[in-house]
Amino acid sequence: MKRIDAIYHVRGKAEYVDDMPLPAEMLYAAVFASTVARGKILALNLKDALVPDGIAAVFTAEDIPGSNQWGSIIPDWPLLATDEVYYVGQPVAVVVGKTQALAQKAAKRIAMQVEELPALVEPREAFVRGQIIGEPRTFVLGDVDSAWEQCDLIVEGTCEIGGQEHLYLETQRARAIPLEGKTMRVYSATQNPYAAQRTIAQMLGLPYHAIEVDVKRLGGGFGGKEEQATLWASLAALAAWHLQKPVELVLSRLDDLKMTGKRHPYSSDFKIGVTKEGKILSYEVKHYQNAGAYADLSTAVLERTLFHSTNAYFIPNVRIFGASCRTNLPPNTALRGFGGPQAMFVMESAITKVAEKLGVSREEIQRNNLLQTGDVFPYGQQMQTNSVRRTWSEAEQTYNLAEIRNRVADYNASHFETKKGYGVMPICFGISFTATFLNQASALVHVYTDGSVSVTTGGVEMGQGLSTKIAAIASKAFDIGIHRIKIETTNTTRIANMPPTAASVTTDLNGNATLLAIGQILDRLKVVAAKELGVADPDKIALADEKVLYAGQETDWTWARLVEAASVSRTNLSAHAFYATPGIGFDRSREKGHPFAYHVCGTAIVEVTLDCLRGTYEIDAVKIVHDLGRSVNELVDRGQVEGGLAQGLGWMTIEDLRFNDRGQLLSNNLATYKIPDIYFMPDAIAIKFLTDENPVGPYGSKAVGEPPLMYGIGVFFAIRQAMRAFQPQQEFAFASPLTPERVLCELYAEELQEMAEKTAASHTLQAST
Ligand code: MTE
Ligand code: MOS
Repeated sequence: MKRIDAIYHVRGKAEYVDDMPLPAEMLYAAVFASTVARGKILALNLKDALVPDGIAAVFTAEDIPGSNQWGSIIPDWPLLATDEVYYVGQPVAVVVGKTQALAQKAAKRIAMQVEELPALVEPREAFVRGQIIGEPRTFVLGDVDSAWEQCDLIVEGTCEIGGQEHLYLETQRARAIPLEGKTMRVYSATQNPYAAQRTIAQMLGLPYHAIEVDVKRLGGGFGGKEEQATLWASLAALAAWHLQKPVELVLSRLDDLKMTGKRHPYSSDFKIGVTKEGKILSYEVKHYQNAGAYADLSTAVLERTLFHSTNAYFIPNVRIFGASCRTNLPPNTALRGFGGPQAMFVMESAITKVAEKLGVSREEIQRNNLLQTGDVFPYGQQMQTNSVRRTWSEAEQTYNLAEIRNRVADYNASHFETKKGYGVMPICFGISFTATFLNQASALVHVYTDGSVSVTTGGVEMGQGLSTKIAAIASKAFDIGIHRIKIETTNTTRIANMPPTAASVTTDLNGNATLLAIGQILDRLKVVAAKELGVADPDKIALADEKVLYAGQETDWTWARLVEAASVSRTNLSAHAFYATPGIGFDRSREKGHPFAYHVCGTAIVEVTLDCLRGTYEIDAVKIVHDLGRSVNELVDRGQVEGGLAQGLGWMTIEDLRFNDRGQLLSNNLATYKIPDIYFMPDAIAIKFLTDENPVGPYGSKAVGEPPLMYGIGVFFAIRQAMRAFQPQQEFAFASPLTPERVLCELYAEELQEMAEKTAASHTLQAST
């Protein structure tokens, strides 16, 4: 089945916030933001912004009637800066004008006098200075300290992991429309309608019910609109509130890049101990997360880093430490994988260093330590399936790993300027929000008397295919044609208190809620059918392919006729249902529990060819075995696997997010920040699914959104292997992204060093003569 919205996308008819018909008298907002990473605001001159015609107003923190503080976990972030600024791009004022261009022009005329203060951009430095958000966390399993003694080899190392820009196609935006009686409707490009509702209400000092947030779809979110979209929705709402006119705020691409947080860069230390046979006995890791200026979701992201620090491996003695370090970068936030990818990168680096020291292949160490059923994670939960090992051995056999290994070795023996490498990447990702209370969802289902159906859930369509999956679930549950199902916008008046669309659980949670709602309606319909058919037992009634069956036999009743009759007999054809994931929980005081409903596992093999003279590389193939469960829509899920993979490959290789030491974004446009395109992606992507039924997913399905990103980590180790084939003696860094530039600098580090020394010497010579 195709996506239900594909037809609109290919025709350019899919509606986003600013595609909706213009309301009368609409105004446009532009943001005036800090240009320094840290400073005291000495003076703010707004007068010049207000001079020309077409400018309606300028708003600052002083115009906020309620709370200026916001943040879902720790409300430490002002919507508009007051006395101080903490990052480049931090909003200070909102200018509103008749057109976007006028507003943007006027915003440029605002003059702010700041006393610039030294900025922190490195997480370790922030840590040393006590700039820590929340509490540092430590997960412990076994006894790391005494286990070192039993190890035959102990290696240590450091990882420097780069951030990542979300680069959703649709930049941040919202349209706020004041309505009668001090209420407002806000169309927001957000993954988190309820957070926008809450924050706007608190900002304006209103009850939550006064604010209706509506979301039709997002042009991508990738985590970047889970928390951060709230800020822009609030600023649009603030202006609309004061002016009592509709106000739209759309960030330009350059403003979006500059003003929004990204994936967290990490700096991490590892120490790993193994036996001669390659069994990992002990692992210690310390993660310093670059959180940016405000909490945002950083502590939650850090928590997932801790959860996934041993990735797909069982290690009996583990100590995992993590701290969210406050720096003067835009507050970093959710991005597909949510701290998991960074943790897995460090684990893979540690394994790689062990393999290199032992002179064995990486996969020998990996294979030796894969999780199996019953193994305990450092957070106390037991592994319930053996699917890590199953995906590994399926990948090894299906894609003939031995052949790949030999082919690469042969190639490297006979080629000098180019080298090949491969990397195997197993993943194990926990499914559920780690904050247990978020694992809840509601659905509202109406059946109309013509047999058509309307479904609202708390989930947001952001390109991941949620609407298609919910429609498929509804169509299957009623057993009626998909054309009868309409998926409505996500709206806070129809669904209250929803969690964000995140953590890959949206279909699980909202699909299950939809099934419960449909179950209620079906039960009522069966009673009606039994009555109409004059039979005693409603349980023997079933619906199949739009027909009413009794005891397995077709009757002359159809879906449409039954619905019509139900209405005439005054039967409720609507239902609201609530679902909460059973059996999960986590005790933060002990850092133990059962936080995840289940795990998604898989194994990828990534193959590359490296041009050792240029540092450039090609990704030749990616071969995946992915534990998908019984998919609700395999085409959509395949898209998620491929898309996640692309994002993971890009993160590891070419997406080079850079700030200078004054906290200014250097990779501030699409000429300096590169993302994967069709040419970057390998010609060969093979994906094989394991399709065991998942008992807790709707129709046995499994979450799919984030885990495949982590297959991309394999490319780093594939390129590294090719580098080592060219320069076996060299120590290479565990630093990402591994751009061609970095590859070249590492391959020729000695030569570059010599050149630098010569140049320095000749300069000294020149200076002294
Ligand atoms: N796919 C597309 N096309 N666009 C997106 O923004 N976001 C990803 C993933 N896949 C995203 C996507 C992220 S970060 C998450 S958490 C999940 O989708 C969320 O949706 P789900 O819970 O329905 O999987
Ligand atoms: Mo996804 S990073 O949980 O929005």
